[in-house]
Amino acid sequence: MNILVTGGAGYIGSHVIKELAANKHKVIVLDNLVKGHRQAVAGGRFVKGDLANCETLNQIMQEQQIEGVVHLAASSLVGESMEDPGKYYYNNVANGINLLEAMVNNDVKYIVFSSTAAVYGEPEEIPITEEHPTNPTNTYGESKLFFEKMLARYEQIYGLKYVSLRYFNAAGADIEGEIGEDHEPESHLIPIVLQKILGERDELYIFGDDYPTEDGSCVRDYIHVSDLASAHLLAVEALAGGLESRVYNLGNGRG
Ligand SMILES: NC(=O)c1ccc[n+]([C@@H]2O[C@H](COP(=O)([O-])OP(=O)(O)OC[C@H]3O[C@@H](n4cnc5c(N)ncnc54)[C@H](O)[C@@H]3O)[C@@H](O)[C@H]2O)c1
Repeated sequence: MNILVTGGAGYIGSHVIKELAANKHKVIVLDNLVKGHRQAVAGGRFVKGDLANCETLNQIMQEQQIEGVVHLAASSLVGESMEDPGKYYYNNVANGINLLEAMVNNDVKYIVFSSTAAVYGEPEEIPITEEHPTNPTNTYGESKLFFEKMLARYEQIYGLKYVSLRYFNAAGADIEGEIGEDHEPESHLIPIVLQKILGERDELYIFGDDYPTEDGSCVRDYIHVSDLASAHLLAVEALAGGLESRVYNLGNGRG
């Protein structure tokens, strides 16, 4: 398939591209490089551009005869989303409308979306299933939930088919060691622990000490980034094979 990957120069996107390219898909990567790294794009064709630019989106879809989209581009810092909510509504919702409109205009039928467990908010029961109520407690999670709602509406009105993947915490790096995690600023626990071990940072904070666990610290569900990448490949191929639109949690179910 001809697949447009938005945010493909980022941590998870770079692993997704590698997986798609290894499975003979033609990949076009769109990233503004605000957070991503050009050298992390290890396959496909790279276009430096922004989701805010409708012309770029239409041009790529038309010229490259795009059949499916994997949409990872987003602003994704929970803390920042509570200080600058407008940035999150613009990038994750308004720019998302540009993408969906370009898909409709160019008859692109399939989209796999990077959603998040943050759409659930405080868990009412564990394990959290896809049927758990959605009640995000921050702007980031809410912006992702808004996009999911738009997907459902675009399906109803235009027949666009989607898989929304609600990731828990991504971790790890490609087994060949070519690509890995490099956020700036780094906000993810595992790379922060590794930076501390390497002497690259003075302090490491683990938040929370009154969770109902053995030592009061919280338990998180981590999923390997290469497993996430495989899930995107499976999802886009399944959509093209006739899968009905669906939401899936992507985690381990184990802390
Ligand atoms: N890392 C996690 O644990 C985790 C968990 C749940 C969900 N997610 C979601 O997965 C996706 C990827 O996460 P990541 O950790 O790889 O983040 P990342 O910041 O490394 O990747 C996002 C990429 O999108 C690009 N981008 C952002 N806005 C853009 C725009 N308007 N136009 C073009 N490019 C743009 C950035 O430059 C970056 O390369 C995000 O949507 C995030 O919300 C991540």
